[in-house]
Amino acid sequence: MSLDHALVLGITKSGKSTLLHWLAKLHHARGDGVLILDPRRDHGWPNDPTRVRFARDAEHVLDLAKRSQRCALFIDESARMLGRDARFDWLTTESRHQGHVAYLSALRATMVLPSLRAQCARAFVFRQSLSDARELADQFAEPRLIEAASLPRHQFIEVESCGGARRRMLTLPR
Ligand SMILES: Nc1ncnc2c1ncn2[C@@H]1O[C@H](COP(=O)(O)OP(=O)(O)OP(=O)(O)O)[C@@H](O)[C@H]1O
Ligand SMILES: [Mg+2]
Repeated sequence: MSLDHALVLGITKSGKSTLLHWLAKLHHARGDGVLILDPRRDHGWPNDPTRVRFARDAEHVLDLAKRSQRCALFIDESARMLGRDARFDWLTTESRHQGHVAYLSALRATMVLPSLRAQCARAFVFRQSLSDARELADQFAEPRLIEAASLPRHQFIEVESCGGARRRMLTLPR
């Protein structure tokens, strides 16, 4: 499992939160702490009060992350939750020295502050507008990302800055 920070992008209802829940469960299963900032407090997150914490707001997630080690940080709807405050850059810069990995979801990459976005070497890209897909293809130097404009619901392309692109669909357990 790669431990680079990641963006999770896609139009509404494309499957971003569901993917975050699944990734949180993977991190939890490998023994990591899990810190969550989710405005909706969805039910799909791993349930373990000893290693899974919900933050009230962006200040709180920053404070919890600074006081912990080796956590996966999940910021759902990150553009709304983090706003444009540069203090939260810490979540993708110094946080690495404490062994954290951050997952930031947003409808579009451009909604995430460039300073945060630049630290994300991975992306999980659900359906995007053609112009957003082109921009992402450019950012990740991966022409296949243009296909994000025609992805069906719940399918995504996983891309790494120094790797290729893989198209995947998450199948939920019944
Ligand atoms: N891989 C999947 N297989 C089956 N159903 C899925 C899958 N991913 C998501 N869904 C379903 O699709 C719906 C939308 O998913 P989800 O809430 O994850 O999307 P989202 O991109 O986070 O939406 P929003 O922009 O509203 O936050 C949910 O009902 C969810 O259960
Ligand atoms: Mg969501």
